[in-house]
Amino acid sequence: MSYPDIPRNSLSDWRQLAHGMWPSKPTFKEDRYPSLEGKVVIVTGGNTGLGYETVKSLAGSTKARIYIFSRNKEKTLNAIDDLKLEVQKEYSVKNREIGFVQVDLSDLTSIKPAVEEFLKKEDRLDIIIHNAGVMMPPQGSKSKQGYEIQIGTNVLGHHLLQRLLDPIFIKTSETNPKGLSRIVWLSSTYHMFAPRGGIFWEDINFEKVPKFNNLTKTQLYGQSKAANLIQARTWSRKHDYPNVISSSICPGYLNTDLQRHASALERYVYQYVLWPKRMGAYTELYAALSPDVKDGDHSISFGTPAKGREDLLSDEVGDKVWTWLDKETDPYV
Ligand SMILES: NC(=O)c1ccc[n+]([C@@H]2O[C@H](COP(=O)([O-])OP(=O)(O)OC[C@H]3O[C@@H](n4cnc5c(N)ncnc54)[C@H](OP(=O)(O)O)[C@@H]3O)[C@@H](O)[C@H]2O)c1
Repeated sequence: MSYPDIPRNSLSDWRQLAHGMWPSKPTFKEDRYPSLEGKVVIVTGGNTGLGYETVKSLAGSTKARIYIFSRNKEKTLNAIDDLKLEVQKEYSVKNREIGFVQVDLSDLTSIKPAVEEFLKKEDRLDIIIHNAGVMMPPQGSKSKQGYEIQIGTNVLGHHLLQRLLDPIFIKTSETNPKGLSRIVWLSSTYHMFAPRGGIFWEDINFEKVPKFNNLTKTQLYGQSKAANLIQARTWSRKHDYPNVISSSICPGYLNTDLQRHASALERYVYQYVLWPKRMGAYTELYAALSPDVKDGDHSISFGTPAKGREDLLSDEVGDKVWTWLDKETDPYV
C-alpha cells in the first residue's frame, strides 16, 4: 500500500496552471479555418460541452463531413437537431448534415462495431478529435472491462478507436498535403498532478492507496490526462507518416458537464470562475487546423503553445505506456 510519487512542479508548470485562469484570447477562429471541402472529421463526445461547440464551429464555417462518435443515441440526435438550428442562426448555414456513430468508449467491445459502421459510410478520414472524457467520477467507477473509468474511457477507449481508425486515416494522409491530417488528443493541465512517468504502474486503478481524498482524485484524473499527452507524442513515433500532425491540448478551464460529479457548491462556484465552452472549442480547432501547430506539440487555452511536464516527455516513458495500451487493446482489434 503506497501513494504514487508525484514530481514537484516547476515554476513553468505553475505558470501553465495559472494561464488557465487568465488565458490568452483566441486568435485562430472561424475566419482562418480552411474550407475542408470533401474532408471527413470525427469528434468523439460531440453531443455536449467542448465537443458540441467544436462541431458547431466546424459545421458553420467549413464544408467538412462531420461525425459525432458518442454513447447516447437519443441525447446525440437531439444535440444534432439543436446544432442544426444554432448553425443556421449563428452562421446562416441551412440544413447542415452531421453524422452520428454510437460508441461507448468505456466498453472496448463497442469500438470495433462503431468503426465498422463508420467505414460503411466513408472511405476517407482526415481529422480525429479525441474529445470525449470523464473527470473525477465516484470512487471505484470502472469501465466494462474493469479498468478505472478515467483510464478506461479517456485513454484505452481512444487508443483502441485510433488503432482501428489508423488504416483509413493513414491511407487518407498519404493523399493529403503535409499537416492536413491531424489527431487531437484532449489532455489537461491537470496532467501536472499525474504520477511520475504518467501512470502509477504498481496500482493503476489506485485501489490500494491508503486514503482516497480530493488530492488522489486529482492525481487519478491527471494520470489519464498525462497518458493522453503521451499518446499524442508517441503516435507519430510509432507510425512513420510525416504528413500527420498528432498533438495534445489543454482546452482551458471551461464551464461544461465535465464537472457533473462535483458537489452542488463546487458547481455553483465553477459557473463564475470557468470560461465559456466555446473558448475551449477554439483550442481544439487551433490544434486541428492551425498551420502554427507541429507534430508532438502541446497547446493550451485558447491556442497558445506550451509544454508537457518534463518527466512525461521521454521516449522511454512513451514506449512503456504505448506497449501497455497495445497489450490491453490487442484482444479487441
Ligand atoms: N471542461 C474543462 O475545463 C476541461 C479542461 C481540461 C480538459 N478537458 C477535457 O475536454 C474533454 C471534453 O470535456 P467537456 O468539458 O466538454 O466535458 P463534458 O461536457 O462532460 O463532455 C464529455 C463528453 O464525453 C462523452 N463521454 C463520456 N464518457 C463516454 C463514453 N464512455 N463513451 C463515449 N463518450 C463518452 C460525454 O458523453 P455523454 O454526454 O453521453 O455523457 C460527453 O459527450 C474531456 O476529455 C476533458 O477531459 C476539459
